[in-house]
Amino acid sequence: MSRIVYVNGAYLPEEDAKISVFDRGFIFGDGIYEVSAVIGGKLVDCEAHLARLARSCGEIRLALPWSTAELVAIHEELIRRNALDEGGVYLEVTRGASDRDFPFPKDVTPTLVMFTQARNFVNAPAVKTGIKVVSTPDLRWARRDIKSVNLLAPVLAKQFAAENGAQEAWMIEDGVVTEGASSTAWIVKGKTLISRPLSNKVLPGITRKAVLAYIAETGFAFEEREFTLAEALDAEEAFITSATSLVMPVTTIDGHSIHNGAPGPTALRLREIYIDFATERPEGPSFPPCEPAQRPVARASVGRGSRRPDRPLAVHQDDRAPGFRSGTPPVCGP
Ligand SMILES: Cc1ncc(COP(=O)(O)O)c(C=O)c1O
Repeated sequence: MSRIVYVNGAYLPEEDAKISVFDRGFIFGDGIYEVSAVIGGKLVDCEAHLARLARSCGEIRLALPWSTAELVAIHEELIRRNALDEGGVYLEVTRGASDRDFPFPKDVTPTLVMFTQARNFVNAPAVKTGIKVVSTPDLRWARRDIKSVNLLAPVLAKQFAAENGAQEAWMIEDGVVTEGASSTAWIVKGKTLISRPLSNKVLPGITRKAVLAYIAETGFAFEEREFTLAEALDAEEAFITSATSLVMPVTTIDGHSIHNGAPGPTALRLREIYIDFATERPEGPSFPPCEPAQRPVARASVGRGSRRPDRPLAVHQDDRAPGFRSGTPPVCGP
């Protein structure tokens, strides 16, 4: 049975879904995407992903005509129509279709495409073995904080990883690890988790944010700083976070064993807590309230069944790239 996908207002069998050859996403990569995980048929962190979508779109001056509630409803309808229990919902919005010319076209309607992918990532076999990582130069552009559909450099990095028997590539720039090709990179020293600060050089991971929201309760400390490949090779543990890998232990980097080649207890514990959190088991962690000065969206909206259509879209300050002023503010939302 083919999937039902969403294209510009219609739910269609995947083989009937079409977009224009003049779509600027296709021609220029002029678009933004997001992937929200689904566990037990429920969206995880979807509103935080939609807040990042709005932020990315604001940075490229792409006005979103859909409210958060409308986008969440499309996610949920796709999950329902595809009977998706576990996997992800991919969303892509582009500036729309117009005769090929670089500047923004006038009076163009954005294209919205969404589809589901079934995946078993909660009990993924890789959790038992950990994943292999290889390092590779970071070839990406200067605004990696924007979740652009231009993914050629990550495609090449992932292909390099695959050809070397690895599942992820850690990209290196100026002697330090920036991030994974599709994940946030972490190392562990003692009871301290280390991951680099947010900036224009990395995507502000939604899973990173969720992990940071609960580590204080777990007794782990967080050191937000850059680390070199040499430091990673020498670390007690390493792991990655992303919407669909959740928290995944890394057991080799460039062929060097980390934690004797076995998944480390810190990564496994964080994974367990994250899954508890994502599925809102009663014994799962509780979350500190947002600071009063912040609008309660991203953190308040994480977790299972967390649909709050009445909330405005906003982005926590720590999701913003230091040194960058927003262009047009996000216009997603009522
Ligand atoms: C480059 C990059 N960094 C980090 C992440 C992790 O982000 P998230 O936790 O929001 O999935 C991703 C996910 O796609 C990514 O592509």
